[in-house]
Amino acid sequence: MPDRAPTTQFEEGTTLDRFLQETARSHPEATGQFVALMHQVTLAAKMVSSRVNRAGLAGMIGQTGQVNIQGEFVMKLDVYANETFKRALEHAGVCCLIVSEEEADPIHIPEPFRTGRYAFTMDPLDGSSNIDVNATIGTIFGIFRRKSPTGGPGALEDVLRPGHELTAAGYVIYGSGTILVLATRDNGVNGFTLDPAVGEFFLSHRDLQLAPSARTYSLNEGYARQWDPRLAAWIDRLKDPARGFSQRYIGSLVADFHRNLLKGGLFIYPATAKSPRGKLRLLYEAFPLAFIVEQAGGAATDGRGRILDRVAEGLHERTPLVIGNRDLVAEATAAMSAE
Ligand code: AHG
Ligand code: MN
Ligand code: MN
Repeated sequence: MPDRAPTTQFEEGTTLDRFLQETARSHPEATGQFVALMHQVTLAAKMVSSRVNRAGLAGMIGQTGQVNIQGEFVMKLDVYANETFKRALEHAGVCCLIVSEEEADPIHIPEPFRTGRYAFTMDPLDGSSNIDVNATIGTIFGIFRRKSPTGGPGALEDVLRPGHELTAAGYVIYGSGTILVLATRDNGVNGFTLDPAVGEFFLSHRDLQLAPSARTYSLNEGYARQWDPRLAAWIDRLKDPARGFSQRYIGSLVADFHRNLLKGGLFIYPATAKSPRGKLRLLYEAFPLAFIVEQAGGAATDGRGRILDRVAEGLHERTPLVIGNRDLVAEATAAMSAE
C-alpha cells in the first residue's frame, strides 16, 4: 500500500477546490501550479459535461468526416473535448507540453502564454463509439512534473518516460452523473461528483479502494478467436460456475474501469490478431488508469509485466492492458505468459 496521508479530515460534500487547496498546504514547497492546473481541468470537464448532456441538441452527434492519427473516425464531441481541454490548459501558465489522442504531434504552449511545471497527457473523449447511443463516456488524463528546464518550452523527455514517474492521474466520467476521480501519491484516490445546478464538484467517494473480492470480468468476447489461446483457455476456466463470475463490457474503457474500481473486477484489452500490440494507448489510457488502480490497491500489467514500469517510447504507442484487483491481474498475467 502506498504511503499517504488519510483524507478523513474531509467530509463528504467538501468542494474539489477546497480539497486541493488544503492538501496543497501540507507541501510548503508547492507553487500553487498543481491546484491551478486542476482548476483548469475541472473547468474543461464542466464544459464537456454540459455539452455531452445536450449532445443531440447541440449538434454534437455524429462524425466530423475526419480520420485521426489512430486511423479512427473523429466524432464531433472528440473535437470539442480536445479543443476545450487544450484551450483551458494552454492559457493558465501551468503546462509545458500536452499530448492528446487527437493530435499526432505534442502540443506546445503558444505565444504569448507562459509555460508551467507540468506535462499533461489526455484522451479527451474515451468511448467515442458510445456517444451517439447516449452511453457513458469520459476523459482520461495523466500529469507528469516536467523534466525540461523551467521557463522554456516543453520537450519529449517530459512525457516519454516510465509510467511510475507520474505525479497524478485521473478521469472524468460523463454517465448518469458526472464524476471526477483524482489519484495523487499523497491522498490516494478520491471521487468528486458534479452538481450541475451549482457548477461545483463535491467529494462523494473518499479514499477509494478496490472491493476485496471481485466477481466481474470485462473484455470484448467477440474477439475470442483472435486471442492468444492461453488467454482464451483461462477465460473459459473463469466461467466455471463454482467461481461465480459475471461479465460486463460497455466498450468505454473509462466506464468499464470505473465500475470495476467501485465494485471490484478485472478489465482486459489483450493483443488480438487485428491489434497485435493491443488497442489502448500507453501514455493517456493505460498509464493514468494503472496509476489510479495501484493507488486503490489494485494492479495493472501488459500481460507480462507492470504497466507503470514500461517506458513510453512514442506518443501514441499501444499496449495490451490487464487491470483491476491484484489477485485477478496476477492470475490472468500468469495464464497469459505461461510457457
Ligand atoms: P476511444 O474512444 O478513445 O478511441 O477509445 C475506445 C477504446 C476504449 O474506450 C474501449 O475500451 C475500447 O476502445 C473498445 O474497443 P472494442 O470496441 O474493440 O471492444
Ligand atoms: Mn480511449
Ligand atoms: Mn478518445
